[in-house]
Amino acid sequence: MIAGQHLADELDELAAQSLGRARRTIGGAQGPTVRVDGRDVLCLCSNNYLGLAGDPRLRDAAVAAIAEAGIGAGASPLVSGHMDAHERLESAIAAWQGCEAALVFGSGYHANIGVLAALVRAGDEVFSDELNHASLIDGCRLSRAQIRAYRHLDASDLERQLGASRARRRLIVTDSVFSMDGDLAPLAEIVALADRYDAWVMIDEAHAVGVFGETGAGLAEATGLGGRITVRMGTLGKALGSYGAFVAGSRALIELLVNRARAYVYSTALPPPVIAAADASVAIVRGDAERRRALWDNARRLHGGLERAGLAMRPFTSPIVPLVVGGAAEALAVAERALEQGVLAPAIRPPTVPQGTARLRLTPIAAHTAPQIDHAVGVLSRAIRETGA
Ligand SMILES: Cc1ncc(COP(=O)(O)O)c(C=O)c1O
Repeated sequence: MIAGQHLADELDELAAQSLGRARRTIGGAQGPTVRVDGRDVLCLCSNNYLGLAGDPRLRDAAVAAIAEAGIGAGASPLVSGHMDAHERLESAIAAWQGCEAALVFGSGYHANIGVLAALVRAGDEVFSDELNHASLIDGCRLSRAQIRAYRHLDASDLERQLGASRARRRLIVTDSVFSMDGDLAPLAEIVALADRYDAWVMIDEAHAVGVFGETGAGLAEATGLGGRITVRMGTLGKALGSYGAFVAGSRALIELLVNRARAYVYSTALPPPVIAAADASVAIVRGDAERRRALWDNARRLHGGLERAGLAMRPFTSPIVPLVVGGAAEALAVAERALEQGVLAPAIRPPTVPQGTARLRLTPIAAHTAPQIDHAVGVLSRAIRETGA
């Protein structure tokens, strides 16, 4: 009873600050539109960048895998859960990423906490961009290494902190494409600093895989810097349309993770149908530059349209287009008005983004049509005007 009251008080406090969160149930498959409360609305908030989550080729691959290998992996990978499908996918990812080896984790969150806690420990230092994803922050905390947060994208601040370090091991970790802002880590400067100060580099390509690079391998591919990055992590549940994540790097790195990454060792391997769908997706993503172009065209159209409608937009950097509103209550009002008009883009509020920068994080996908994007521009700019945000 007393615990219940405390919990209710906490929830009331969140609601009073417009920081309460609730899920919305989506009907049907993920796509350019989704079904909300029985109504089709434009989905401008998923990470299904290439529209593959509902693709029949992924579904067919999953169904075939179920017929061959059933549903569950039944055990963690080191026991009996590492099946043919997992082995095939890891080889395909390693080849795609141009790395010696790859390892599939249960999710991006698992991968990040698993890698960081395996690679650094007390006595080491991790240099972490202040806007890194929560899973990287949690991995840093779990590792017990000293965390040195540097200012967002600021290579000078990073250098200052590296220069002062006397740690046994130094690891620089950054999102390559930042999940809430869509801006890009200064990878060339980061790898140069890593060379100068004898540090390792880990990048989280969750929002770059499928989106950046000639074959969609990520920002490492697009910048040609892959060979100077120690750890590349990417997810299989965003542009790739399935679920899970991978880490790619040297054979020694992957072997060490198989031995030391607790989030890998102590967790059941992903189901064969999920793995087979990801495998099919890697082949599609590598070969389908047209789909990537469609995504970028839509993102540019959305960003340009909002700018022309008079909204203050940040410079265009990637298919993540933040529409920063400011206050949490105001962002909620804009999102609600947009949904009434048929556009789904929930308000993203603290602690996901810094105080005073609540926003609608807009993410068009390859499968949206130009008229859909133009419609969204109209709805969103009206929602901003009408709510006075
Ligand atoms: C940058 C970044 N890293 C990691 C993750 C976690 O990945 P997953 O959703 O597969 O756990 C996410 C997304 O949620 C992300 O945006």
